[in-house]
Amino acid sequence: MRRYLDHAATTPIVAVAMEAMVAELGRVGNASSLHASGRAARRVVEEARESLAESCGCHPTEVIWTSGGTEADNLFLTGAWAARTPQRNRVVVSAIEHPAVLETHAALARRGADAVILDVSSDGVAEVGQLPELLAAPTAAVSVMWVNNETGVVQPVTAAAEYARAAGAWSHADAVQALGHVPLDFATSGLDAASLSAHKIGGPVGVGALLLRRGIELSPIGFGGGQERDLRSGTLAPALVAGFAAAARWAVERQPTEAVRLADLQARIDALARRIDGANVNGAAVERSPAIVNVTFDGLRADDLLMLLDDAGIDTSTGSACTAGVSQPSDVLLAMGRSTDQASASLRFSLGHTTSSADIDRLAEVLPDAVRTARTAFGR
Ligand SMILES: Cc1ncc(COP(=O)(O)O)c(C=O)c1O
Repeated sequence: MRRYLDHAATTPIVAVAMEAMVAELGRVGNASSLHASGRAARRVVEEARESLAESCGCHPTEVIWTSGGTEADNLFLTGAWAARTPQRNRVVVSAIEHPAVLETHAALARRGADAVILDVSSDGVAEVGQLPELLAAPTAAVSVMWVNNETGVVQPVTAAAEYARAAGAWSHADAVQALGHVPLDFATSGLDAASLSAHKIGGPVGVGALLLRRGIELSPIGFGGGQERDLRSGTLAPALVAGFAAAARWAVERQPTEAVRLADLQARIDALARRIDGANVNGAAVERSPAIVNVTFDGLRADDLLMLLDDAGIDTSTGSACTAGVSQPSDVLLAMGRSTDQASASLRFSLGHTTSSADIDRLAEVLPDAVRTARTAFGR
């Protein structure tokens, strides 16, 4: 039996999401058509919108359906900058953002944006205290993620939103790893926008949402039929959004109890790592999502350890980007001040709704030897 500890990459679909999708897959009718079949499809989309809004603490008109977290991040950053430049040409993002934000930010820089990076502490927390200074120049948008996907560290998004508002900048959080794992209420967060993805919470791959406060007018980044407040053209997908909404309701309802269950399993992995010489849990001293543990094992290559665990039936991740199948040093850990060696020696264990105590038992059986073997391989 395989032990799947890579839920932050994608988590198995839950039954309620699958049922909601299957119920809609056979339906005919374009949600933009005026006839009865079209209106029925539209009803499914709008009920999903109301349900997701309720799960996230926003108004239904604030939900913009997208193809996932990546598109939501692209839409917000590019759409905000395009709407506000040249008067507000600066875009600030934290150094530990997902590539969906960092690469969009870099692309905006190539188009002439004043693209500025916010530092993070050695614990992996964005230094939002720097924002008043960085926002002295007229700024279009600020993006600080809610939960980091590599370390699980919870970020001060409410403070970031306050600083942004004071400076007239729009605030955004990539909340892809937050939904279902930490309490998330869009209205009280003070944020202008947040990105979500269904497949991280037990919904289908290929659908997500940008939550966008009413009154924030982005420029569209794609053009067509003008669906989704004219921001995201394209035929709506009733089965996908119904599956997403069902998964969100399921994940948000059980979040308080699931957080306690996962925190217990997380503490067991922390303790297991602490028993290994030269292993350090990143972000252990600050608030983390209970679903992610990131450990640096000095003196090895994370890829080697990943493959040894894979051979032993355990799926893990380095959490960072791959180029041609080879992991690069983690930009997140480099931004936290780790050396290139350390940033290449870190593994992410991520937990979810199917993770059991037996999965952690198996990890405990296998990890110490795998670390030893990987260190020997690295020494060669
Ligand atoms: C923090 C974060 N943002 C964005 C994404 C991308 O989401 P999607 O796969 O829905 O495009 C991910 C997924 O890896 C993520 O972890």
